[in-house]
Amino acid sequence: MRHPHRRVISPRIGRSLVAIATIAALPSAVAAQPALAAAPQAAPADAAYLNPRLPVSKRVDDLLDRMTLEEKVGQMTQAERGAIDGDRDQITELALGSVLSGGGSVPADNTPEGWADMVDAYQSKALATRLKIPLLYGIDSVHGHNNLVGATVFPHNIGMGATRNPGLVRRQQEITAKETRATGPQWVFGPCVCVVRDLRWGRAYEAYGEDPRLVIEMETGIEGFQGRHERDLKSPRHVLATAKHYAGDGDTVFGSSTTGDYTIDQGVTVTDRRTFAKVNVAPYVTAVKRHDVGSIMPSFSSVDWKEDGVGNPVKMHAHKELLTDVLKNKIGFDGFLISDWAAIQQIPGDYATQVRTSVNAGVDMFMEPYSAPQFIETLLAEVRAGRVKESRVDDAVSRILKAKFELGLFEKPYTDRRYAGTIGSPAHRAVARRAVAESQVLLKNSGRALPLRRNEEIYVAGTNADDIGNQAGGWTVTWQGESGDIIPGTTILEGIEQNSGNVTYSEDASAPMSGSDVGIVVVGETPYAEGVGDVGNGHTLNLSDADKANIDKVCGAIETCVVLDVAGRPQIVTDRLPKMDAFVMSWLPGSEGAGVSDVLFGKRPFKGRLPVSWPRSEDQEPVNIGDRNYDPLFPYGYGLRTRRGHHH
Ligand code: BGC
Ligand code: BGC
Repeated sequence: MRHPHRRVISPRIGRSLVAIATIAALPSAVAAQPALAAAPQAAPADAAYLNPRLPVSKRVDDLLDRMTLEEKVGQMTQAERGAIDGDRDQITELALGSVLSGGGSVPADNTPEGWADMVDAYQSKALATRLKIPLLYGIDSVHGHNNLVGATVFPHNIGMGATRNPGLVRRQQEITAKETRATGPQWVFGPCVCVVRDLRWGRAYEAYGEDPRLVIEMETGIEGFQGRHERDLKSPRHVLATAKHYAGDGDTVFGSSTTGDYTIDQGVTVTDRRTFAKVNVAPYVTAVKRHDVGSIMPSFSSVDWKEDGVGNPVKMHAHKELLTDVLKNKIGFDGFLISDWAAIQQIPGDYATQVRTSVNAGVDMFMEPYSAPQFIETLLAEVRAGRVKESRVDDAVSRILKAKFELGLFEKPYTDRRYAGTIGSPAHRAVARRAVAESQVLLKNSGRALPLRRNEEIYVAGTNADDIGNQAGGWTVTWQGESGDIIPGTTILEGIEQNSGNVTYSEDASAPMSGSDVGIVVVGETPYAEGVGDVGNGHTLNLSDADKANIDKVCGAIETCVVLDVAGRPQIVTDRLPKMDAFVMSWLPGSEGAGVSDVLFGKRPFKGRLPVSWPRSEDQEPVNIGDRNYDPLFPYGYGLRTRRGHHH
């Protein structure tokens, strides 16, 4: 008998009471199962899974053999911080495998210490379970540890794509990993390796670009997060990464198609298998084969195969062909699949059908933010009814446990805070500032307006000149992001002022302009994230009236006129471009606005290149490199260069 303990009825009354309390908390379907009454014993101290010298696969097998079905299903479940914070014992009672912070789900004390104390408190609840399986804490560190006030906030991915610098992206994610793990979370929901084929998508800025080859190049970030070797995952400098959202997000149809009314976010990719593999799945092949990514998040979106006759879109979370046959079996992904936010609840049918379908399709862990108890209850019932095989559950749990062992959590479950002092440090911010500078794309420069000369009288205007919230964009402190002074850092205006003593600033260009040599107008978007940022959903690619008025006023009055666009995607400037002497795409630079002034003043050269095609009009979308009759305002890859300090 390899595991006699499994057959022993626990003599420990206390533990049985916990089990009974758990049953009582759940609806009747679970309570009706007599198997739960037998609470197995804790593992002996010499159990193989507790031995760090044994190979991970041995430890996984040993632990799996000791687990009850309830414990296995618990490992497959992830709850939102907000759902369990008020009653943290749920972590123990449900034997939860994971907790996440959704966008903006922060501790009351939003400091490194506040985070680490919170995550550690949750961890102690996980360690109070019979087998002491540590909790995995996941968070959206998508441009730095962006939920934490004081973290280094990098440009969003579209700007990083403009740098064409894979080494810099690796460095960025090393810093993000270090800042994140020092505060508790050992797992990030990034990078998005989405390929944005339509800029009307409100998540366009989360993509590195429109060409899968560019996205693939930028996947060095996975190494930055996880390290280069498996052993690096144990280090307080690294985190487990998630490639998301598999696959086809960013390539969904806009508005209604022949098959119905779709929204672009969480919409439908209408494609054929060959194109899908080439455009949308290719980045995942790299993520798995070259970078050994630890987890992958399926997309909210659906796929509708042309060769099967359009009209039958299947939700990715239900897509066995793509999740299991292609990703796990063919590509060889041996990490775990984490469902997106309540995404299984979009699968047709009742909850039991949604749970069964997604588990059987291949999803391993379930982000069921506010329905963790229901999920557990439902999956247990499905397994007991034989509609989900226990072998599928074992496969899912093995994948999750493997990550926990590789992260070293069984040996060091609590936060290693040794790098907390580096969070938002000058050294980290210097890297972000360089990333900002390298991401700037110079699209027009007549009469060599740029770089600026140091002694010029500079007039700065525009809604995004002095607003760090706007320049950081969505997924900053809150889910949707916010205008205003929300994080420490440097605005673009402050960066300009660091370089010149002759600056007049007037947001709405109402201050007198006489005597100014150069006008800088900073236009752009206000923050948004998922769904909210979709064109047609309150947003547009067109410039606001205020931005147009500022361009008209400043460019009409000052000899040399420079326009900066601070936005998550190209905006329509076709009719205003002739008025500008220089035009720069600044993207969403994040906390280090001084990186913008570094190129404006020639401390660094302009060398960013467009990661997406720039449309002439909103109606021209989608427009992508390789299209027939390709005729954007600026083509993919465009970007003028300047030499350093050329005017001094
Ligand atoms: C988003 C994911 C994110 C998750 C957790 C979802 O709505 O689609 O990208 O990782 O929420 O915040
Ligand atoms: C959360 C996000 C999540 C979204 C999904 C928000 O409340 O903060 O993290 O992605 O809901 O709808």
